[in-house]
Amino acid sequence: QKILLINGPNLNLLGTREPQIYGSATLNDVVKQAKIQASELSIQVEAFQSNHEGAIVDKIQAARGEVDAVIINPGAFTHTSVAIRDALLGVGIPFVEIHVSNVHAREPWRKHSYLSDKAQAVICGLGVFGYTAAIEFAAKHMKVNVG
Ligand code: DQA
Repeated sequence: QKILLINGPNLNLLGTREPQIYGSATLNDVVKQAKIQASELSIQVEAFQSNHEGAIVDKIQAARGEVDAVIINPGAFTHTSVAIRDALLGVGIPFVEIHVSNVHAREPWRKHSYLSDKAQAVICGLGVFGYTAAIEFAAKHMKVNVG
C-alpha cells in the first residue's frame, strides 16, 4: 500500500514560520516521523513538497494508478486552487486534506477550501499530529486502488 504525502507552498518553512500558529516541528521532522510510522504499518509513504501549483498538479497526475491515497496539505492553494481540485478528481485517488492550524479560528477567508467537499476526511488544528492521524487513517481505511 502506498500513500503520497503532498505539502504545498511555504510548508518547507514549517518550524520557523509563524511558530505560534504552526509549532516548532520542521517538515523534515514530519517526513521522518511519517516514514517511521509507515514502516510500522508496513506501508510506503512518498513525501513531496512544492511551492508551485503546476508541480503539485503534475505530481497528482503522475500518481494515477500508483498510489492508494493522497494526504495533502495544500497550504494557501487550499483557498485558491481549482487546478489542484480538478487534478485530484481527475485521477480519482481518494484524499485526506490536512491543515496544521485550525483554519476556522483564523481569517474568515481561510474557512473556504476548494477540496473539502471532495475529501474523504478533513483534519485541522491538530498541529503536526494531524499528519500522523491522516497516515493511520489512510493505512487502515483507504486501501482501494493499488495492491
Ligand atoms: C495551512 C493553512 C493555510 O490557510 C495556510 O495558507 C497554510 C498552511 C495549515 O497547515 O494550517 O499555508 O494549510
